[in-house]
Amino acid sequence: KMSNLTELSDVQKKELSDIAQNIVKGGRGILAADESSGTMGKRLDMIKVENIEENRRQYRQLLMSTNADISEYLGGIILFHETLYQKDDNGKLLKDLMVEKGIAIGIKVDKGVVKLLGTKDETTTQGLDGLGDRCAQYKADGCDFAKWRCVLKITDSTPSQLAIDENANVLARYASICQQNGIVPIVEPEILPDGNHTLERCQEVTEKVLAACYKALNDHHVYLEGTLLKPNMVTAGHGCTVQYTPEQVAVATVTALRRTVPPAMPGVTFLSGGQSETSATAHLNAINQVKALKPWALSFSYGRALQASVLKAWKGKPENVAAAQDALMHRAKMNSLAAMGKYEASMETSAADAGSLHVANHQY
Ligand code: 13P
Repeated sequence: KMSNLTELSDVQKKELSDIAQNIVKGGRGILAADESSGTMGKRLDMIKVENIEENRRQYRQLLMSTNADISEYLGGIILFHETLYQKDDNGKLLKDLMVEKGIAIGIKVDKGVVKLLGTKDETTTQGLDGLGDRCAQYKADGCDFAKWRCVLKITDSTPSQLAIDENANVLARYASICQQNGIVPIVEPEILPDGNHTLERCQEVTEKVLAACYKALNDHHVYLEGTLLKPNMVTAGHGCTVQYTPEQVAVATVTALRRTVPPAMPGVTFLSGGQSETSATAHLNAINQVKALKPWALSFSYGRALQASVLKAWKGKPENVAAAQDALMHRAKMNSLAAMGKYEASMETSAADAGSLHVANHQY
C-alpha cells in the first residue's frame, strides 16, 4: 500500500536493500525480457514467427520454464505488463515459474520516450502519472523491482543540459515512487551507441550523465542501497573507425563509474546495447578484471545479448524448445562467470552469436 510517511522506515529500507543485493549476489544478473509487444514483434520477425499474444506467451514460457539451475546465474527477470499475467500450458502464472526458482520479478513501468521540444531529437521518458498506484498493484502481484529506461544521444551538440537534467530528474522521481511502494528501482540512463564518437567522448558523456543522475537521486531522497544502476558500458560509437580492446572499454567504464557512482549503490547491471552476445560477455569479464577498487557488483541486465541465440535456436517450433533453453542456460552461465571475472572465450560453443545486434535508435 502507498505509504503516507515522508521517509522510508527502517523496515522498508531493509526490504529494498535485501531485494537489490539478492539480485546481484554471487555473480547473478538479470534477464531483460520486457520487450513491449511492438519490440517483441521485431525479434519474432527475424525468426519468421507471427507477433500474436499466443506466440509471445509461448516464447516467454520457454524462457521461464528453463531448468532451475538458471537461478545460479539469474537473480531477476524483467517482464512487460502482458507477461506478468500470462499463464503456462498448465494454467500456472508464468512469473511463478521464476519465483519458484528464487528469481525476483521485475516490471517495466515506463511508457516510452517522447521528444523534447526545441532539441535535436532528444527525448524524455513518460509514465509518472498514476505510477504510485501501478507500483502498489505490481507489488501486490509479485513484483519486487522495476525498470524505467531513459535515453540520451551523443552528437557534437548532444546530450544537451536540458536532456541530461530532465532525464536525471524523471529517473529520480520514478525511483522515489517505486521505493515508497516496496519496489527496487533500476535506474537506467542509457546513452545510445549510435554515432561515430570515440571511446573518450562516450566516457566524458557517461560521467556527466551519471553525475547528474546521482545528484537528482540525492535531491529526491532516494535510498541508494535499495536501487540498482543499469548503465551503458563506455564504448565507442557504432560508426567509430577506431577499434578498442575489451581492456580499453573496461578501464574507461570502471573509471567513469568510480568517478560518479556512490559505493552505497549495490549493483551495476549493464545493458548490452546492441553488442554481440560474445562481446557483451567479454566486455563484462574485462570490466570485472580491472584492478581498481570496485565497490559494487558489476553484472548484467541483458536483453538482446541473452536472447539472440535463444530465438535463433527456437524458430517458433516446439521441438526446438529444449535447444533454445540450453542456449539461454549457456549465455546466462557465461555472463555470470563474466560478472565474477572468470570467463574465457574458450568456454563458448558454436551457438554463441558474435554478430552485432545493433538496432539504430533502439526502442524497448
Ligand atoms: P539490451 O541488453 O538489448 O540493450 O536491453 C536491455 C534493456 O533492458 C534496455 O532497456
